[in-house]
Amino acid sequence: MQKFNWGVIGPGNIANTFAKAIAASTKGKILAVASRSKERAAEFAKTYDIEKTYSDYEQMLADPDIDIIYIATPHNFHYQQAKMCLEAGKHVLVEKPSTVNAEQMQTLVELAQSKKLLLQEALWSRFMPSLSQLRQLLNEGIIGDIQYIQSEIGFAFQNRDKSRMVKAELAGGSLLDLGIYSITVSQFFLQEHPDTVSAMGQLTEQQVDGHVLANMHYPSGRFAQFTCSMLAQTSNTMRIVGTEGYVNLPACFWDTDKAEVFCDDKLIQTIDIPHPINGFEYQIEQSMLCIEQNKLCSDLMSHHDSVEVLRVMDTIRKKIGVQFPQEIEAL
Ligand SMILES: NC(=O)c1ccc[n+]([C@@H]2O[C@H](COP(=O)([O-])OP(=O)(O)OC[C@H]3O[C@@H](n4cnc5c(N)ncnc54)[C@H](OP(=O)(O)O)[C@@H]3O)[C@@H](O)[C@H]2O)c1
Repeated sequence: MQKFNWGVIGPGNIANTFAKAIAASTKGKILAVASRSKERAAEFAKTYDIEKTYSDYEQMLADPDIDIIYIATPHNFHYQQAKMCLEAGKHVLVEKPSTVNAEQMQTLVELAQSKKLLLQEALWSRFMPSLSQLRQLLNEGIIGDIQYIQSEIGFAFQNRDKSRMVKAELAGGSLLDLGIYSITVSQFFLQEHPDTVSAMGQLTEQQVDGHVLANMHYPSGRFAQFTCSMLAQTSNTMRIVGTEGYVNLPACFWDTDKAEVFCDDKLIQTIDIPHPINGFEYQIEQSMLCIEQNKLCSDLMSHHDSVEVLRVMDTIRKKIGVQFPQEIEAL
């Protein structure tokens, strides 16, 4: 069996979830961690028994023993860091959103293609077997023909002033952090991309989106509608509505191992596939499998889907007037 040595860039909040998940892998391990802070790298390495630490990201990329990098920094850094990793010949699993806008992701996709390296957006929901099983049932018509999908996702973050979410220079706001799940999970079930998008939003004093309310129309005639917020505590549920019934995805729908299918208001089927660890293990194993199979991304979260979801978010931001500083939107 091929073994994979991972490097982690940015040992902050979510890197801990990643490290817990990969600890159970028989194929992969974290060999090195890089942080701007030597102390932070050392502490993370101690917690997860990691052999090498770097206080400079580029130095870690020069390490020939590392195969693949997990990028776990705020959104605005993803483009430049993923580019740097690919140019250094490393495969990449990059946190969501893969970049700040569609043009940046398209540029990375071309680079990954020219280098024949994995470039995978870490949109963990898309790799969950519960959602794949549900998609299969929907394709078989368990609720008839899907008509629309509704979801809401939100947490009241407003008191966390230092949070990366409130800062435009870190590509903050509810849409790129949270609304992305509604767009990408809806797209996973509908298997098409919107042709029309309308949106309203409320901006914070820092000029990022506090709430977004968006409607998407798809070429097949179906709709998806969502609300995302970093100012309100929402139900964090999704409902898929068809001609013969509906499916409820409970909170938190983007991390769900469960789904309930109703027809004639009666529960007719339940999906329940508990995560072995924390739900991150699926995207980690898929990334390694793709490399083994010489694939540049997983079919579960393709480059095309990453780019198109970003395109929807570009459109929504334009409609509600969220502009990030030019330096983080640029190529
Ligand atoms: N899949 C999920 O469920 C999930 C959940 C939460 C977040 N995320 C995603 O994960 C990514 C990171 O989120 P997080 O909450 O883990 O971030 P975080 O803890 O705020 O930061 C992670 C790392 O990014 C670097 N960083 C943070 N702020 C920075 C700044 N102002 N300038 C330069 N570097 C900075 C730091 O790296 P150094 O240690 O090198 O300084 C830090 O350790 C985001 O893309 C987010 O959307 C995903």
